[in-house]
Amino acid sequence: MALKVLVLASEAAPLVKVGGLGDVVGALPSALRALGHDVRVALPAYPVAEAQAERYGLQRVGRTQVVWSGSPVPVPIGQATVSGVPHYLLGGPYVPRDNRVYGSGIDEDGPKYIFYSMAALALCRELDWQPDVVHAHDSHPGAAVYWLGAKGKRDPFWRRTARVVTVHNLPFQNNHAKAYLAAAGLRPSRDPRLPWWAKDGLMGLALAYADEINAVSPGYAREIMGEEYGAGLDGLLRLRAANVSGILNGLDYEKWDPMHDPALATPFDADTLARRADTRAALQHSTGLIANPNIPVIGVVSRLDHQKGFDIAALAVRAVLKDGAAQFVLLGAGAEEIQAPFEALAAEFPGRASVNLGFNVPLAGRIYGGCDVFLMPSRYEPCGTSQMAALRYGAVPLVRATGGLRDTVQHYRRGSGTGFVFHAYNSQALLRTLRRALAVFEQKDEWRALQKRGMAVRFTWARAAADYAALYNRALEAKRKRRS
Ligand code: GLC
Repeated sequence: MALKVLVLASEAAPLVKVGGLGDVVGALPSALRALGHDVRVALPAYPVAEAQAERYGLQRVGRTQVVWSGSPVPVPIGQATVSGVPHYLLGGPYVPRDNRVYGSGIDEDGPKYIFYSMAALALCRELDWQPDVVHAHDSHPGAAVYWLGAKGKRDPFWRRTARVVTVHNLPFQNNHAKAYLAAAGLRPSRDPRLPWWAKDGLMGLALAYADEINAVSPGYAREIMGEEYGAGLDGLLRLRAANVSGILNGLDYEKWDPMHDPALATPFDADTLARRADTRAALQHSTGLIANPNIPVIGVVSRLDHQKGFDIAALAVRAVLKDGAAQFVLLGAGAEEIQAPFEALAAEFPGRASVNLGFNVPLAGRIYGGCDVFLMPSRYEPCGTSQMAALRYGAVPLVRATGGLRDTVQHYRRGSGTGFVFHAYNSQALLRTLRRALAVFEQKDEWRALQKRGMAVRFTWARAAADYAALYNRALEAKRKRRS
């Protein structure tokens, strides 16, 4: 059956993207539409999103309103169509007119996302479009899920709508939103499964009031039900285990294609892997590394924050640089204390370590398409996109066994596997595995076969979309049963 699905999220590429969440919300709706579902996306009308939406035929299509602190507040509606998917941009006084997407805390993001959540529900009535499913991503639209599961339960317009919540990053919860929930006419929840501090938290509320919950990989779905990765909500998630599942994200294999990437010196695929050497040489040249076709190049493209695990990487990388066993190139930016040890490496090993702070799409392409070992030592990784891109570009991923990394990279054994996987979160474990990778690199035939196995792997959005459609149907089915 074709389903009507309202997608709620704080990001959706190409209109607005801060991280991986934006890629997912940018790709999944059109993959679901290809299966025949009527999927529509509602976003806050950030000025950056509005500017992008101009290129997708942005039109002012009217207004709706939200009752906020007891008074009606008008919500201007913009509409643009991206890859066949209607996107609604919802304005109002709580979306700042500057260039930021996320604010500095709950006093900014609370009103912004709760107002937006209520506006998205008002939008559906305005359009007289009754969704079968409201699909909320991460904490930001949590108030919509809460309203639907509490107040909206008896509302004839919403009674049949199922609620699905996808977890991309559990520690980001938007807690302590009580004052702003009150503005939307909502009190903190009394659900005893929620810890006291999460009764007015947008993530906790979303998880407590969803019909179905999924994480962006099967591995992360298991991990968040345990204390180590549960960010305080593991107890609730364990109680909800029957409704918790994992669906691995896809990769856009048209966008990520070494045969059609202008950042690469020469296009290549698995049958013409020898041509990859050109991009490798261009990478060394453009980043100040010594030209050398034989030395393995270790690459990093990443946000440099706590999650990504680079605090254990600098020591290990230093050890192999000291041995003269590899070169190293990093592209990324983030926390000063994570950047600093890498800047020190670049100073200590000129021509052998190159540290590039910032974002640079062509350089990212050259690293994926030119490095040999792609490093992703994440402390936790709900899914991860870069390891999938690395595989596609013939870079061999070296990852920690966590979340989506564990689900997407198979550890090398002679004749099998797609990358290298280490377990314990420390520099020694990383270094041992890195040395192993560099040793395999010397066995040219083994390495080439390893690259080719990785390049053949496919994590498609079509498969993910089919899994989401099945999840929507499970949520609807469970709801129907409860009502009858
Ligand atoms: C978050 C996670 C990342 C995941 C992305 C998309 O950014 O940190 O692992 O790939 O969401 O689901």
